[in-house]
Amino acid sequence: MKKYSRTLLFVLACSATMHAQKAKKTNIKPRNEFIPELMAKMTVDEKIAQLVQFTADGTVTGPKSGNNFIDEIKKGNVGSILNATGVKYTGELQKLNMDNSRLKIPLLFGYDVIHGYRTIFPITLGETASWDLAAVELGAKVAADESAASGIHWTFAPMVDISRDPRWGRVSEGAGEDTFLGSKMAFARVKGFQGNDLMSLNSILACTKHFAAYGAAEAGRDYNTVDMSERVLREVYLPPFKATVDAGVATFMTSFNEIAGVPSTGSKFLVNGILKKEWGFNGFVVTDYTGINEMVPHGYAKDEAHAGELALTAGVDMDMVGGVFLKHLKLSLAEGKVTMAQIDDACRRVLEAKYDLGLFHDPYRYNDAKREKATITKKEYLDAALNVANKSFVLLKNSNNVLPLKKEQKVAFVGPLVSDEFNIIGSWAATGDRNGFAVSIQEGVNKLVADKSKVSFERGVEILKDDRSMIQKAIASAKNADVIVAVMGEFENMTGEAASRTNIDLPGIQKEFLAELKKLNKPVVLVLLNGRPLTLTWENENMDAILEAWYPGTMGGDAIAQTLYGMNNPGGKLPMTFPRNVGQVPIYYNHKNTGRPYLGAKDPEQKYKSRYTDSDNSPLYPFGYGLSYTTFEYSNLKLSSSALNANGKLKVTVDVANTGNYDGEEVVQLYVKDVVGSVTRPVRELKGFKKLLIKKGAKQTVEFELSPDDLRFYNIDMKFVAEPGDFEVFVGGNSDAALNSKFVLVI
Ligand code: NOJ
Repeated sequence: MKKYSRTLLFVLACSATMHAQKAKKTNIKPRNEFIPELMAKMTVDEKIAQLVQFTADGTVTGPKSGNNFIDEIKKGNVGSILNATGVKYTGELQKLNMDNSRLKIPLLFGYDVIHGYRTIFPITLGETASWDLAAVELGAKVAADESAASGIHWTFAPMVDISRDPRWGRVSEGAGEDTFLGSKMAFARVKGFQGNDLMSLNSILACTKHFAAYGAAEAGRDYNTVDMSERVLREVYLPPFKATVDAGVATFMTSFNEIAGVPSTGSKFLVNGILKKEWGFNGFVVTDYTGINEMVPHGYAKDEAHAGELALTAGVDMDMVGGVFLKHLKLSLAEGKVTMAQIDDACRRVLEAKYDLGLFHDPYRYNDAKREKATITKKEYLDAALNVANKSFVLLKNSNNVLPLKKEQKVAFVGPLVSDEFNIIGSWAATGDRNGFAVSIQEGVNKLVADKSKVSFERGVEILKDDRSMIQKAIASAKNADVIVAVMGEFENMTGEAASRTNIDLPGIQKEFLAELKKLNKPVVLVLLNGRPLTLTWENENMDAILEAWYPGTMGGDAIAQTLYGMNNPGGKLPMTFPRNVGQVPIYYNHKNTGRPYLGAKDPEQKYKSRYTDSDNSPLYPFGYGLSYTTFEYSNLKLSSSALNANGKLKVTVDVANTGNYDGEEVVQLYVKDVVGSVTRPVRELKGFKKLLIKKGAKQTVEFELSPDDLRFYNIDMKFVAEPGDFEVFVGGNSDAALNSKFVLVI
């Protein structure tokens, strides 16, 4: 995979340079001359138009807007369009705009390209489970090239919301619960989408969303209220956003939620304060879909005009779909509620992004029908999607090495998703083809197993319907087999936006069907297609093996078949904790210890402890967890010194041996605990990880480096510092790692 990705990255880089050179040939003035000269000619209406984004009639990503985007383009009222795709359609809309734009200012086309454009990669949560930054960057790069080839300039990704609540449907779109992992992933995704040069035709603008703390919605209910201390906001939720600024992200999107009583879209503290001033973000900020209008029902603005004033004053530059800036901003300016300087600043930021993409050089440079045809779903991209899918799977259980399957075995594949080509690509799958193009598991298995008498495929049950009429046929096929593989999960639209659940069990009668299969006394393997941590306590007790396959994308069926039959050894690790039951939620590995930590069954005091009376505190599967067809043993943890000084570095080394029968990839994880602080610290925090391929029988020494910078946090005075004192280090294959050592930070 590594060799392959490098070749692909090289090809992309070469063609990017070629295009960049081509664009630079046109004799347009440098940006710092071009934009001020253009703005000097613009009327107030023309400037406001640049701050207006309307949705076209393609993909539906929000409530009906009631806007006539065609008329508005004709009137020169629009700066950006979302939800129009394809060279032809975006080209037609661009032409309509150019014909009507007095100063020939091109439209910017935005779209939710989340985990692929047409070639669909695993959902973001699944891709993150690879813990493979090169794979994640590659996924974004392919998505950028395909969408750019199809007329898109701008993706609304990456979504970098940390979430500790699997009830929230949008966990599928993010990188999970951890700030360190999430920040690395966020950086890689921006690099993938934007490349090193926005002028290159292979890159598109990225948009970091949703600013901020949207993943902490109360009770996991989408769009719900968020309240948290500034310390938690800055320490847990904001770093992935900052990482994207460091990666050079071009745009940001505000979130729907309020934080501590202030909707993000109207938050001066967040947008102008933290993002633009503190972090020096130079790009532009778009709201989420009707985010400005929603400040009225939030109870923060008295009417839409007021909401628009609050948004612009907070630092928002573009109004997504709401039409508020278009309707009210000019009057607000006349009334002195907003200033010309504010409008100018927002307009400049939007125009600069258009300039950076080369749209002033040529508004149609993303509209090349030949290139679109040659790029979309080309073989290298499908191969890349297959590779990344193979890396995303997490093996949750594998008793008696029931996996991998052998081709000589008779296998009954059953379950509602066994021949599915629709759900397998997951939610937010852009223009991903759900009808016949994506590879189903049945197709993938059929490609691998030549002797068709060895495999059978039956649905058995549906995901949500109470229909038992197909069960007997499926049981009959299972009776005839050596091993049963049940493919189950959620419908793709049960995760994503507006898809919160209060019950995160396998939905419908799927579990009941599993119980029937279990009665046959044959090994049962459960393959899961789903977009969030589910509660799998019963399944863990009763199934022989469980493979978490998320929604693996276009090539998902091939990847799952290759994994089940041992051509791929799963090496993914969970980016979110899987609870035992929904009552444990929110649950995350880097929690605080409390004053009455419960030590489990051996605790001499069982009553007055921080615990449940009806459930263990521990999760079913911890963050960072995932098995392999082989086994790894950790030993010989060493620190280069027992003390770390202010300007010093500490080397942490550990030996990892592959003690099983297969070559395999392992994600070696480093956690640190700050024992005593001026404010309490988590029980442990991820500070490093390395993914390595270790051949069977081989041993590798893995090295990490820690410096005082890695130990910083917001102290009692809200200063971001490392405090002297004792630290513990844990290294292993998941967040429960037991191998540990100690050092003292001396400052
Ligand atoms: C609403 C979603 O919250 C956001 O993530 C998305 O980018 C926009 N709609 C545009 O489709």
